[in-house]
Amino acid sequence: MGSKVKTTFACTECGAQSPKWAGRCNECGDWNTLVEELVGGSDPADAPLAPSKRSGPVRIGDVSTSSARPVSTGIDELDTVLGGGLVAGSVTLLGGEPGIGKSTLLLQLAAARTGTTLYVSAEESAQQVRIRGERLGAMRPDLWLHAETSLPHVIRAIDETEPELVIIDSIQTIADPELSSAPGSVGQVRGCAHRLVTEAKDRNIAVVLVGHVTKEGSLAGPRVLEHVVDTVLQFEGDRHHALRLLRAVKHRFGPTNELGLFEMVGEGLVAVPDPSTMFLADRRTGVAGSAVVPTMEGKRPIVVELQALTTDSVPNVPSRRSAQGIDGGRLSMLMAVLGRRGRLPVGEQDVYASAAGGARLNEPGLDLGICLSVASAMCDTPLPADLAMFGEVGLGGEVRQVSHAQRRVTEAARLGFRRVVVPAKSPDPADELDGQVTLLRVNTLVEALRAAGLDASASGLRAV
Ligand code: TYD
Ligand code: MG
Repeated sequence: MGSKVKTTFACTECGAQSPKWAGRCNECGDWNTLVEELVGGSDPADAPLAPSKRSGPVRIGDVSTSSARPVSTGIDELDTVLGGGLVAGSVTLLGGEPGIGKSTLLLQLAAARTGTTLYVSAEESAQQVRIRGERLGAMRPDLWLHAETSLPHVIRAIDETEPELVIIDSIQTIADPELSSAPGSVGQVRGCAHRLVTEAKDRNIAVVLVGHVTKEGSLAGPRVLEHVVDTVLQFEGDRHHALRLLRAVKHRFGPTNELGLFEMVGEGLVAVPDPSTMFLADRRTGVAGSAVVPTMEGKRPIVVELQALTTDSVPNVPSRRSAQGIDGGRLSMLMAVLGRRGRLPVGEQDVYASAAGGARLNEPGLDLGICLSVASAMCDTPLPADLAMFGEVGLGGEVRQVSHAQRRVTEAARLGFRRVVVPAKSPDPADELDGQVTLLRVNTLVEALRAAGLDASASGLRAV
């Protein structure tokens, strides 16, 4: 690098190249998507395609997999999400809103694992990181700190310390002086990430990049980073709740459906061993609009409370559907099904539905709970305190089977629920639950409403 550097402009959406900057991409027509990039032999964007240290083709059976095995991070919840741990030579992006706990998690990772770690702090001074490290038990002799924002200096630090893990906190504050675009711009973020990916592969070290997420929820530099890394972890949660959820949204080395649950306490992030109890901690029984659902997060059943509130819509204004912690599109669809098939006049109601306790859920098994919580709110009739439910609701008003029915029932029973409304063809409860829990099998939403003690005629609501 360094001799003669040429630059070009590339569209972050379609990848089209242009010799000069323009407000709008000529190819795809998107606005404000052109970013400056280096071209020529030193173009970092070329690196993954033309790596210098890789050999030619090999027979699939001769490919060594020993270095692609995950190595435990020392943090169980993180290992669960990663399918075992971090893989040498891989790059992981940890995204999340500012203040959610990314730096805390990574410092704890540096404290918990074995092997040399280089923590590049591009946002906080080394003193600040040390003070936090003291609290988190990260005072290890093999943990190196480097408060630096310039990419070449970071690379030199990697040369000097020869770490097995490099943490870059954050990729948005690292800049390559050879790129003329401003630090934090898409071009810089992309260029630096490409370079670090190349370093990770060539040196066979694990690299973790911190990426701040914008208000809209996307990683700054629209999607560009997600393509170049091997794994994308999302760290989320409500800042006003202590609960933090970690999940993989892309993972080249394993499944993406596992969820890690942490609580932010004075000593940093601690695992939540019994999430169901935590999610139900503030539940009040006997309140209309509350429904309890054993949902699945990866292989783990978690019992959550869904809450709904309905109010009369303003006449001649489309009724509102507001979803928090559940999918808004799904809520709208379910309200249409509840109106047409369940014969409840939801069309004239504003509906507010949320997952209690800061949970963020997206799983078809929630459908029945969403419908019954709204119906309960509309009828102003609480669901029985010992009743839980799960099942997917189809457009025809049918209740469909969902995965892991037995595990869901077992988890609900463990928390004291005695009756569970389930899709008709669900398997019987596990033998050890004999007599402890009754399944109320339903084929349709109307049957589910009846099983839960709710329907338009029972509550005196006008049927549509
Ligand atoms: P931080 O890891 O700095 O967030 P990010 O890197 O994602 O911006 O964590 C920030 C919040 O976490 C901060 O508001 C204080 C809180 N916190 C604790 O409650 N306990 C702790 O032990 C630590 C280190 C942080
Ligand atoms: Mg931070």
